[in-house]
Amino acid sequence: MKKVILDVDTGIDDALGIVLAVKSGLLDIRAITTVCGNVSLEQATLNTCKIMDLLHRPDIPVYKGANAPLVRNHYDEKRIHGEDGMGGALKNEAPHATPSDGFAPDIMINLAKQHPGELTLVCTGPLTNLANALLKCPELPRFVKEVIFMGGVIHGPGNVTPVAEYNMYADPEAARIVFHAGFGRLVQVGLDVTRKALLTAEHVAQLADPQLQAFVKESTADYTKRYEARYGVRACALHDPLAVGVAIDSGLVHMSSLYVDIETSSRLCDGQTVGDVQSRLGQPPNMAVCEEVDSTAFLELFVREVGKPAMSPAGQGEHKPILG
Ligand code: RIB
Ligand code: CA
Repeated sequence: MKKVILDVDTGIDDALGIVLAVKSGLLDIRAITTVCGNVSLEQATLNTCKIMDLLHRPDIPVYKGANAPLVRNHYDEKRIHGEDGMGGALKNEAPHATPSDGFAPDIMINLAKQHPGELTLVCTGPLTNLANALLKCPELPRFVKEVIFMGGVIHGPGNVTPVAEYNMYADPEAARIVFHAGFGRLVQVGLDVTRKALLTAEHVAQLADPQLQAFVKESTADYTKRYEARYGVRACALHDPLAVGVAIDSGLVHMSSLYVDIETSSRLCDGQTVGDVQSRLGQPPNMAVCEEVDSTAFLELFVREVGKPAMSPAGQGEHKPILG
C-alpha cells in the first residue's frame, strides 16, 4: 500500500476525503497534517480530530501546521463550509483524539526521509505546509514519491474569482514554491475534473454505514443547497475526495503533462493557475494535469468504500463489523 500523508484544511470535503482514505483501507496513512484554509488552523485541527473519532482511528496521528498563509492574510471559506467548517455536523462532539506533538512541515520532511521514494503527499488545502517544508528542506523532492494536490483550474472558471480556485487563491506564493520545487511527480486534481465528481442524495442513500451516512447527509446539507443555488444542480462536489481517489487509483483520471505556473502579482488574477497548453513559454512540463475523470467509477468507489460497514477499533484490518 502507498504510504501517505493527508494535508487538509478540514472543511466538509476534506472530511469526506479523510473518510474515504481511512475507510477504504487501501492507503497506509502515516499522518494527517492540518493547515489554515477553509477555517482556522485550530478549527481545521478540531474537525480532523472529530473525524478520527468518528472513524475510531486514534492510531493515525494528526499534526498541526501553518496558522497563516506564507505572506498574505488568511482568506477563509466559511461562506461555503459554515462557521465550524463542517456544515454544523458533529458540532456538539468533543473529540478524544488530540493533535500529536510536531509541526506539520517537519513531519513531512521526517517521514519523506524515513521512507525515501515511497511517500505520497495528498494535499487538499492551501499548499502552505508543503511550501514551508520546501523552504526548510529544498531537497525534499528527492525523497518524495509524488504529490497529489486538489487545486487550481486550467480550462474553466475559478470558484473564488473568475479565474482562481480557492486552495490556490488562499496562498498562491506557497503554490508557486511547490510548482517550481522539482517534484518528479506532481499531480493537479483541479476543478476541471472535481466539478464532475458530484455526490447526490441518491448516492448518500446507498451508504450502508448508518453512522457515516448520517454524517455525510448532515455535513453536506447546506453545501448542497448552496451548490444548487449557484449551479442549478442539487449535489456536493467531491473536490478533495477525488484527490484521494486519484491516490487510490490513478486510472480514474486521464492526465496530460503540462507546464503550469500561478499568478501572484495581479490586481485581478491572483491565484490563477496558467497551463501552457501551446508550449509558448518554452518550459518543460512540471506537472500532470487531470483533464478527464470517470466520475461514475469514482462515485462507485466513494459509495462502496465510505458506505461499507464500520470496523471495530480492535478489528482494524480484520474487517469484523461492529455488532448491533
Ligand atoms: O476549491 C475547492 C477546495 O477549496 C477544496 O479543497 C475545499 O475544501 C476548499 O479548501
Ligand atoms: Ca480542502
